[in-house]
Amino acid sequence: MDNTYRFDQKHLLGLADYSAQDIQYVLDQAVSFREILNRPVPKVPTLRDKTIVNLFYENSTRTRLSFELAQRRMGADVVNFSAGTSSTKKGESLKDTIRNISSMKIDMVVVRHESPGVPHFLTQCVDAAILNAGDGAHEHPTQALLDLFTIQQVHGSLEGCKVAIIGDIMHSRVVRSNIIGLKKLGAEVVLCGPKTLIPKFITEMGVTVSYDLDECLAWCDVAMALRIQLERQGKGTEFFPSLREYHEKFGIKAKHLEAYPQFKIMHPGPINRGVEMESMVADNERAVILDQVTNGVAVRMAILYLLSGGTRI
Ligand code: NCD
Repeated sequence: MDNTYRFDQKHLLGLADYSAQDIQYVLDQAVSFREILNRPVPKVPTLRDKTIVNLFYENSTRTRLSFELAQRRMGADVVNFSAGTSSTKKGESLKDTIRNISSMKIDMVVVRHESPGVPHFLTQCVDAAILNAGDGAHEHPTQALLDLFTIQQVHGSLEGCKVAIIGDIMHSRVVRSNIIGLKKLGAEVVLCGPKTLIPKFITEMGVTVSYDLDECLAWCDVAMALRIQLERQGKGTEFFPSLREYHEKFGIKAKHLEAYPQFKIMHPGPINRGVEMESMVADNERAVILDQVTNGVAVRMAILYLLSGGTRI
């Protein structure tokens, strides 16, 4: 990285807005935070003067807990908002909610929403730094950052790494952010899944498409399985005959681990065991799914730190 480089992003709306250098810089910072997490007292006072609101309009387990843990590990004051128990239920608009919250002197907002573009909209309503925790099927940048970090950890480098992403490509925000990040950092990407779940023009993002799981697993260094997003598919399994049949054709199985001994297994969670992969595959030592979760806290600490104005730990 050249010496004149400066990270000067104000928000994290998507990896599309970040250069390769920005992404690599976040990953490099995350290495230091990953070390902090291994200390007996895994805390630093970096955000002790900051107040952060987590605004979740959609269900979340990992992402919400991970953001909150990252914030608390850095000493921030944290408030949580869940749409289900808020005045959204009484008809308050998103804009009014955010302006009210902002009047409480908030420095940063983490937002997850079912509509693409909401994080961008919020940048026009308030002064706080906005972090996208998933907007519809658009982007999920912190998930991709933690995936990139994990791939770097298991493979050494992203440059030239062969990544197969398998599953519901059409409805996944994780895949969109991952493709953008992986391509910017020099990885090769093959997408695999039923034809009905792979958008026709996705190859314009610089990826290759395969409908043959064995071919992908024989080729890749990392196989990233994605959940079938039934909640975004209208009536359910209309994109393929049944979940059983999906598993038959695109589920990663014990026999694949035996046949192709080189690839590692990733999944953003939540896993549907017996659909994206056989249960024993998720628990196999070649699966780095729980490392992804641990790395998620470190990566979120890094991006929170950088967006709070920090340039050095
Ligand atoms: C993903 C999401 O919400 O987009 N999960 C996550 O953030 N870990 C993927 C999914 O829901 O399948």
